Amino acid sequence: MKAIIQTSYGSPEALQIKDIEKPSPGKNEVLIKVMATTINDFDWSLVTGKPHLYRLLFGLFKPKKPTPGIELAGIVEALGAEVKNLHIGDRVYADISEAGWGSFAEYISVNESTLSLIPEHMSFAEAASIPHAAMLAYQGLVDVANIRKNQKVLVNGAGGGMGSFAVQIAKLYNAEVTGVDSRRKFDMMRSIGYDHLIDYRQTDFTKTGDKYDLIIDAKSTRGPAAYARALKPNGNYVTVGGHLNRLIQLAIASKTTRKNMHVLALKPNKDLNKISEMYAKGQLKTQIDGPYDFDEIPRLISYFGKGEHLGKIVITVNNEK
Ligand SMILES: NC(=O)c1ccc[n+]([C@@H]2O[C@H](COP(=O)([O-])OP(=O)(O)OC[C@H]3O[C@@H](n4cnc5c(N)ncnc54)[C@H](OP(=O)(O)O)[C@@H]3O)[C@@H](O)[C@H]2O)c1
Repeated sequence: MKAIIQTSYGSPEALQIKDIEKPSPGKNEVLIKVMATTINDFDWSLVTGKPHLYRLLFGLFKPKKPTPGIELAGIVEALGAEVKNLHIGDRVYADISEAGWGSFAEYISVNESTLSLIPEHMSFAEAASIPHAAMLAYQGLVDVANIRKNQKVLVNGAGGGMGSFAVQIAKLYNAEVTGVDSRRKFDMMRSIGYDHLIDYRQTDFTKTGDKYDLIIDAKSTRGPAAYARALKPNGNYVTVGGHLNRLIQLAIASKTTRKNMHVLALKPNKDLNKISEMYAKGQLKTQIDGPYDFDEIPRLISYFGKGEHLGKIVITVNNEK
């Protein structure tokens, strides 16, 4: 089978596409024929080995796992001896960031407990684009910041993966939603529901005097005082990602200030069924950049790194026949 192979940290263009042996499932695993996968911040970090601190997790001198890729949608092709809930032919999807990575390959074996069934009428491309970013948005808005009806919400990094789901989830609470990102994404951002748009290259939203009940942030480029300035009294700030030094600063602030500052620790796939329900009711659409061909993965990781994507970059791995 075809797989992306990485032997050292460095440029995405140095990734190789190799023919390797198809895996066989362990006793609680299923073998999945991967139909679609996506590119996430984790892949960029795994391939480049940056920030360097991540190498404690990925492998000190070279990646411990040769194949990146943390999101997939596919078809169950074989079952391990003790698999209880899945069947051959099931359509499944998952965030596998805590289940061994490796979705940039035609086949992968994954523990059945990590997988959910793809809702009826959801395509493989749509399914692959959902688990990671939608869960960041859902857990940030609902579990951590406890979003309530009619709030004024700001999404920073609004045109990326997390942001494209956050606005749709916030709208289910009748929120008035401001999106902060670069101007060239504004048409797409309007189309997915943002009420107000701010170009981060021109305006610092923490200095406009506007105040929000809830800020959800994919970039975290500022210190806690700046975010606190843009919050209403009792407002909530939640970061889902960004520079490591800022995340540490915000984590300290979450314990030491009286402001409601939070750092999300993602629980992969928790409440994925709620996202499926929203999809089934027509409340949630995916914003797909692509789908692209498998051979384009090295170039697409660079494309992601430059921030040129609109929504989620999706790659077709095996073609539907
Ligand atoms: N909390 C957890 O447990 C956990 C787990 C996994 C991942 N994460 C993190 O969660 C984040 C998910 O983000 P995502 O998938 O939505 O990323 P994404 O798709 O890269 O989107 C980020 C968006 O932010 C924009 N942007 C760049 N600089 C900005 C700035 N200074 N101000 C405002 N917007 C800016 C980018 O646009 P341009 O660059 O084009 O301008 C892009 O549209 C990642 O940082 C990831 O590492 C967190």
